[in-house]
Amino acid sequence: MRQNIVVLTGAGISVESGLQTFRGEGGLWRHHRAEQLATPDAFDANPELVLEFYNERRRQLLSPAIQPNPAHLALARLESVCAEHLTLVTQNVDDLHERGGSQRVLHMHGELLRMRCDECGHGVEQHGDFFATDSCAQCDAIGRLRPDVVWFGEVPLHLPRIMAALEQCDVFIAIGTSGNVYPAAGFVDIARRAGARAIELNPEPTPQPNDFTEHRCGPAGELVPKLVAELIAATASAG
Ligand code: OAD
Repeated sequence: MRQNIVVLTGAGISVESGLQTFRGEGGLWRHHRAEQLATPDAFDANPELVLEFYNERRRQLLSPAIQPNPAHLALARLESVCAEHLTLVTQNVDDLHERGGSQRVLHMHGELLRMRCDECGHGVEQHGDFFATDSCAQCDAIGRLRPDVVWFGEVPLHLPRIMAALEQCDVFIAIGTSGNVYPAAGFVDIARRAGARAIELNPEPTPQPNDFTEHRCGPAGELVPKLVAELIAATASAG
């Protein structure tokens, strides 16, 4: 029987592509205060500052130097073999999974390349800079479009689908996440209660004790292609 696999990725999977993590050396929250940039109150208080922070991150993501790395590519390969038996959940707002070839990515913290209107709910792709004086193409409201990302104090996206997948999963894999932010940090517990094998891939130890049954230490670009090859071989031998 095919195994159901849930993969959770965090900022660490995009490090070898050239993007920063949030915590730790060089992390985004080391240089910026999250409460001034990533909350609904921050946006109400100073939309220009918040929009500029996201404009900057968008420019960086779209610069030619930033490309998917072997970990993103390997997960796309896994999707092509496992199809609906794989659920790929990311906390990342970048589009590197999609650029690597993954087609069904659940962005639980939203997407950097999208904006959404708080007035009418209209969502739109955004690749260029966005300013507080710009208006919504749907309802014409000015200053009501915001980055389509989940800020602190807001509810992550796709939770019902993610919970359903975790409750039926045989293998849970967390890649490049520090395990500091809930609810994602609690996914391993749900998977373990479902009887899943739980594998953590990270170059550093994450908060202990945790419920992972296996820890592999190293960069995602090396570890993920190896693990994916193992999972594909196991799928082939299971018929
Ligand atoms: P963190 O910055 O908290 O953690 C990144 C993890 O990646 C750390 O555990 C690093 O050890 C690991 N790492 C570093 N280099 C790596 C590499 N080459 N390969 C694999 N792992 C590597 O990022 P997240 O756990 O993703 O939320 O953060 C979770 C959430 O906190 C983010 O989605 C964001 C942030 O506040 C929101 O903005 C809502």
